[in-house]
Amino acid sequence: MGFVSNTNNNNNKALLSKIATNDGHGENSPYFDGWKAYETDPFHRTTNPDGVIQMGLAENQLCFNLIEDWIRRNPAASICTAEGVSEFREVALFQDYHGLPSFRHAIAKFMEKARGGKARFDPDRVVMSGGATGAHELITFCVADPGDAFLVPSPYYPGFDRDLRWRTGVELIPTPCKSSDDFKITRESLESTFEDAKSSGINVKGLLITNPSNPLGTILDRETIRDILSFATEKKIHLVCDEIYAATVFDKPEFVSVSEVLDEANTTFDRELVHIIYSLSKDLGVPGFRVGVVYSYNDDVVRCARKMSSFGLVSSQTQRLLSAMLSDEEFTSNFIAESARRLCSRRKAFTSGLARVGISCLEANAGLFCWMDLRRLLREATEEAEMELWRMIVSDVKLNVSPGSAFHCAEPGWFRVCFANMDDSTMEVALKRIRTFVFRCRKRWQLKLRLSFSSSHRLEDASMTPGVMSPRSPLVRAAT
Ligand SMILES: Cc1ncc(COP(=O)(O)O)c(C=O)c1O
Repeated sequence: MGFVSNTNNNNNKALLSKIATNDGHGENSPYFDGWKAYETDPFHRTTNPDGVIQMGLAENQLCFNLIEDWIRRNPAASICTAEGVSEFREVALFQDYHGLPSFRHAIAKFMEKARGGKARFDPDRVVMSGGATGAHELITFCVADPGDAFLVPSPYYPGFDRDLRWRTGVELIPTPCKSSDDFKITRESLESTFEDAKSSGINVKGLLITNPSNPLGTILDRETIRDILSFATEKKIHLVCDEIYAATVFDKPEFVSVSEVLDEANTTFDRELVHIIYSLSKDLGVPGFRVGVVYSYNDDVVRCARKMSSFGLVSSQTQRLLSAMLSDEEFTSNFIAESARRLCSRRKAFTSGLARVGISCLEANAGLFCWMDLRRLLREATEEAEMELWRMIVSDVKLNVSPGSAFHCAEPGWFRVCFANMDDSTMEVALKRIRTFVFRCRKRWQLKLRLSFSSSHRLEDASMTPGVMSPRSPLVRAAT
């Protein structure tokens, strides 16, 4: 072939648009660098046991067998099978951007079930898109103009910088949440970021929240959701709620969706400002199917988004398959319950493995990841020190975890570690590597201590005195 060359990038750049060649994709972040490290040296139990283990990917691979069983029992639903081929022509021709009514109906029912049956969704408000990625861009296009801004409580999912900003020209303003508040969203931080933006002449058009949170794995309580709704209503800004992890809640307290709070009696929230983003990428574990949803309480937004959805429709074969699968109530009930059970036991196994070497995580009850606290391993409390530690974890320990700075976390030393995209034995290898790393660090610290106390020969005393130990090291104190 020989037409595509990498050597001519600068010349080609002039031929391409400014949007296509700017940094909006966000690929130059450590979040994506870690993926590249994995891709160049991927771990495999037998063929590459020293390779990088991918812990930077929020995939839910724990219940594939349940979906595979269903597909085997329902061969007609896949269409391109002997049992389904009679439907082939109709499905091959279908391209209405409203989507198959049976698909919208089945998705709305699944969304209700994923929220414990406590929320109601109208299939006529379901607008399809290519995953939540496409859904975020779609809603941003519908409600904001280039130069407008969205407030986003941080830490937040790094993909938002691409999804909401790149092609729309909209800006994101991180609203920092603090570890001293367990990273909860507070009215004060929303107010102050909003006022700061306004006084800098920025037109704040909306607020984007993620519940359950990626990367924290925590959920918002009802009071906080009410607070957020009243904030959006008072300021007359849109509230976009990403609930794509709704069914990953695996422990108490129960998940509360914004839809439930909106439906409470006697509220004065402006529903027309509220839009939910959903997808089957996490709850059902099928990101490759690219099924996303904008669910808006605003009729104009629904109409506009539906027309725009022409750019990111879900294939009609996928719609047909999922209509059948998600209408199977017994299957979906069992799937949601079993998935939560498996996520719960995986998280427990992983966090207790970390706890054994003195590493703690933010308390959480949802998601496919832990928010791991390595602050005491930092040389100093700076982003540079965080990156130094991150590089060591990726290149020496060979684990692709993601540093907090990639999530706009205001405090250095936090890392996101995904635990549901691998099998049990890979998780054990990862834990073993972390243990070895920790013991190695401990040895280094002990050597440092020995050197610094050699003149007074008081090592035993020193290592027993908390004030003399490095305040950053949980490892010196960790049980063996
Ligand atoms: C909070 C959040 N929103 C959106 C997405 C994108 O999801 P999708 O694969 O459906 O595009 C992700 C993926 O990790 C996510 O974590």
